[in-house]
Amino acid sequence: MQRKLFVTTALPYANGGFHIGHMMEYIQADIWVRFQRMQGHQVHFVCADDTHGAPIMLNAEKQGITPEALVAKVAAEHIAQWPQFHISFDFWHSTHSPENIELAQTIYKKLKANKLIVSREIEQFFDPVKQMFLADRFIKGECPKCGAKDQYGDSCEACGAVYTPAELKNPYSVLTGATPIMKSSEHLFFKLSDKRCVSFLQKWVKETPLQSEVKNKLAEWLGDDGKNLNDWDISRDAPYFGIDIPDAPGKFFYVWLDAPVGYLASLKAYFAAGGAKANGEPRDFETFLADEKVEQYHFIGKDIVYFHTLFWPAMLHFAGRKKPNNVFVHGFLQVTGEKLSKSRGFGPTPTKYLDLKLNTEWLRYYIAAKLNDRVEDLDFNPDDFLARVNADLIGKYINIASRAAGFLHKKFDGRLLKVDAKQSVIATIIGASDEMAALYDGREFGKAVRRIMELADMVNGFVDTEKPWELAKSDDNSAVLHKACSIIINAFHLLTAYLAPILPNLAADAAAFLNVKGYDWSDTKRLLPADHKINPYKHLMSRIDPKQIDALLDAPKDVPAATTLGKTKTAPAPANDEAPQSTEFALQPVEAPKPIIIQPIAETISIDDFGRIDLRVAKIIDAEYVEEADKLLRLTLDLGIEQRQVFAGIRSAYSPKQLIGRLTVMVANLAPRKMRFGESQGMVLAAGDGTSIYLLAPDSGAVPGMRIK
Ligand code: 2FM
Ligand code: ZN
Repeated sequence: MQRKLFVTTALPYANGGFHIGHMMEYIQADIWVRFQRMQGHQVHFVCADDTHGAPIMLNAEKQGITPEALVAKVAAEHIAQWPQFHISFDFWHSTHSPENIELAQTIYKKLKANKLIVSREIEQFFDPVKQMFLADRFIKGECPKCGAKDQYGDSCEACGAVYTPAELKNPYSVLTGATPIMKSSEHLFFKLSDKRCVSFLQKWVKETPLQSEVKNKLAEWLGDDGKNLNDWDISRDAPYFGIDIPDAPGKFFYVWLDAPVGYLASLKAYFAAGGAKANGEPRDFETFLADEKVEQYHFIGKDIVYFHTLFWPAMLHFAGRKKPNNVFVHGFLQVTGEKLSKSRGFGPTPTKYLDLKLNTEWLRYYIAAKLNDRVEDLDFNPDDFLARVNADLIGKYINIASRAAGFLHKKFDGRLLKVDAKQSVIATIIGASDEMAALYDGREFGKAVRRIMELADMVNGFVDTEKPWELAKSDDNSAVLHKACSIIINAFHLLTAYLAPILPNLAADAAAFLNVKGYDWSDTKRLLPADHKINPYKHLMSRIDPKQIDALLDAPKDVPAATTLGKTKTAPAPANDEAPQSTEFALQPVEAPKPIIIQPIAETISIDDFGRIDLRVAKIIDAEYVEEADKLLRLTLDLGIEQRQVFAGIRSAYSPKQLIGRLTVMVANLAPRKMRFGESQGMVLAAGDGTSIYLLAPDSGAVPGMRIK
């Protein structure tokens, strides 16, 4: 029976470029979608930019452009990138769209009519200069526990303490440096704690085949009889870039209210644009979603489960709409252990991946090989990436084709013999079809890849036994050679069908070589007919050069610069917070204003004097606290030609985590200095007035070792 599926991935903030974690999620969803389409199911797969919220508004302001212009700029970058990773979205929309405004307001009105919206007075920090209420992440101050400076309003990056903004010592607004004041304001709340919501959610959770980890989390969040559920603050006061709340002037929906509505808005716009016409008839969005047979699935990361399994189903239900049939949750992608949440900028960014012109199907294959159906973090291990692509994908699968194609062309005009489906190699491959389908449907892509590689091993074993290169030496063996090569090519054809959801581009190239139209799931059981003529073999995929991986993993040239979109390095914020979605606030902490004392200019020196100082661009490849010294950090600096250890008195301003990967400037020919904890072999440069410290950074493009003159 043909299923009708509506599938989404989480909407990325329109505040910066994609992160590799976004690509992982899109690849996961895309493999699943492609598999479902190969099964003949009807799938509508959409996404959009998540455009609203204070961080986007403020980022636009900093760039001197309107939020609309920022959102358009980011959308253009997003839209240019996902197709290059072969993500088969049917439509990409925006939450700043007429469809989303209309849907969000309609849903809100229904919730209100259902008496699930209440108004309450709340107290919150307010920036008197900016005339704006401040979310926790826009307030900084000294950690109440360890005293570290410039810590966010909710947690300390230096000691890990968690607290409320009111507990910070000497709090200041990240936006202006002003001391925030407590101010009250009327907010609107969605009554999640209402008995009706609780019993609906209990039922929805019970009936929905959520992952066990998600179920456990929900049991915790719901508590006995939902007693742990709090009402949800869904309004924000002006100034805010968001959707107007009907009948509440100056109030806007909190970005997380209208973001998931964007799933529906994207589908609606897709249908309105003429997409997914059935029998030539345009589809009606409301009729489609009212169809009980339509299944709705959301792929998301583990940080946004709360929104998708509590607020979202409850909003939909009490607005009289279809609820998600499931929410598929994945973990984070880590690069050799370092967490790459959406807010970190190091490592293999999609932009860098594309700039280096790396084959995006290498990444699809590697990610597929690591994925399972659980909420587990994945490790992007460069050596493993190289090995799996070169040794498995190319060494095992791609090579099968090249081991037989030449002989077929040289000796048999590229024509195949009919192969018996009972031949043991062929029968084993065909026999795996149902198991493989179950693995794809169940998002066990790692197991599917493993199984495909086992089958490839078996085929290669067959080639090794048959030895076509030996058979080809004598015409007496012609029939045996022809049969063996026909089996090998058919095996390659079947394996290609299995890999097609993961490697759509490669499957298309293989189809051209095999002279077939393309792949659907029935091809996993269908052999090429007698006398079928294949095309001459062309190299299907090249190996990864280890140098390419090194280039990919180098810290981006612009890490120290605070201006590049999406290159953030803040700690991940709690999921229900309004984390700054971009670099700006994190990388350039705004100090509380202090009187600036400008020192007199020093005595004049000659250019030769200056020339004696060998200033170099250095990359901080490691940084750690020095136990015995509360002002120092031990830095390991890469100078291109050598590495240096330097003790720098910058601990009050930077944590080690904030520094690793950054470029800075060092005095490379300063006489080494023996200290209690080791030798300091140079000096890094920083600006400061005795209290604040600002490490210097070269403009983007500079590389370690460059001389500064
Ligand atoms: O966490 C995020 O990146 C959000 N922009 C995800 C939104 S998903 C959906 F609700 F729109
Ligand atoms: Zn602290």
